[in-house]
Amino acid sequence: MKKILAIESSCDETACAIIDEDLNILSSVVTSQIDVHARFGGVIPEVASRMHVEQISTIIDEALKQADEKVEDITAIAYTIGPGLIGSLHVGGIAAKTLAFFYDKPLIGVHHLKGHIFINELLAPLEYPLMALVVSGGHTELVYLEDDDHFRIIGTTLDDAVGESYDKVARVIGLEYPGGPKIDRLSKEGKMTYKLPTPKVEGLNFSFSGLKNATLQLIKKIENSGEELNKVDLSYSFQETALRSLITKTKKALEEYPCKMLVLAGGVAANSRLRELVESEIKDIKVILPPLKYCTDNATMIGVAAFHYLKHDKFVPLNAESRPNMSIED
Ligand code: KG4
Ligand code: ZN
Repeated sequence: MKKILAIESSCDETACAIIDEDLNILSSVVTSQIDVHARFGGVIPEVASRMHVEQISTIIDEALKQADEKVEDITAIAYTIGPGLIGSLHVGGIAAKTLAFFYDKPLIGVHHLKGHIFINELLAPLEYPLMALVVSGGHTELVYLEDDDHFRIIGTTLDDAVGESYDKVARVIGLEYPGGPKIDRLSKEGKMTYKLPTPKVEGLNFSFSGLKNATLQLIKKIENSGEELNKVDLSYSFQETALRSLITKTKKALEEYPCKMLVLAGGVAANSRLRELVESEIKDIKVILPPLKYCTDNATMIGVAAFHYLKHDKFVPLNAESRPNMSIED
């Protein structure tokens, strides 16, 4: 039975997982730095890399211990090669390379977003052509997969990522980083009290900075007028407008690029309203929503994706450089 030890350290989670070729998760350990970054209102890259350095060995040891495995018996070492914060990526990369060198194992450099997409295989085999709506703190992309080795970005944000605008709006109304889950929760009780502009971009691309700025201006205007801001309704109005744009573009993409399956991927895929809308509005094809636990960053997803790299004999040398801006098409 082939087994992969996978490491993820692209942003503010340090994680290690061991999974086998049947996608059994032998262990999956994640430590989040969220509490520390929350104090600053967002991820501070230098703090993130330092914390990865402090955590990484313990996390790898813990993953091996929980799986009751030895590195000698692992088939390959996988890690996130990009995209992400350069200092954070380096820490996971160096740990993975050290293990690969010392134990003479093949090394696999996984694209972070491929991890978010392939984690859906825990629920069902993926069917191609496949559309992935990738929504995270750093990316908003519609990715067309002809098969498990060919990725085409058919739509992308021209400015902010959707998760980034959630976090920004949340911060301004006094919610702690990461704000996405908090806006999700507040919105459940809200209604469309505030009218916000629907993002308007041609084709399959997205834009969230206009909506974000309009929301921030509205908040300022209400505060200056001495009126009380209804945070619940503001969250609702912002969220509905942002998600409506995701749904409209996804439907358009599926018309232009007929697919057998749609998957959601990335941190914002945990959003309860997005999950509801996708299920109710995408009718004609199979839809997979990633398990909530694996929506935000983890190493299991890197391990699952790594089995595809292994299948296609895609390895990286020990001197491979981390790629903070790597595209999913590379
Ligand atoms: O994929 P991820 O863990 O990290 C990146 O690769 O960026 O995504 C983190 C992003 C953050 O912006 C966070 O606010 C957002 O995902 N997020 C959510 C929810 N849970 C996480 N946004 C909206 N609703 C949620 N429930
Ligand atoms: Zn991510």
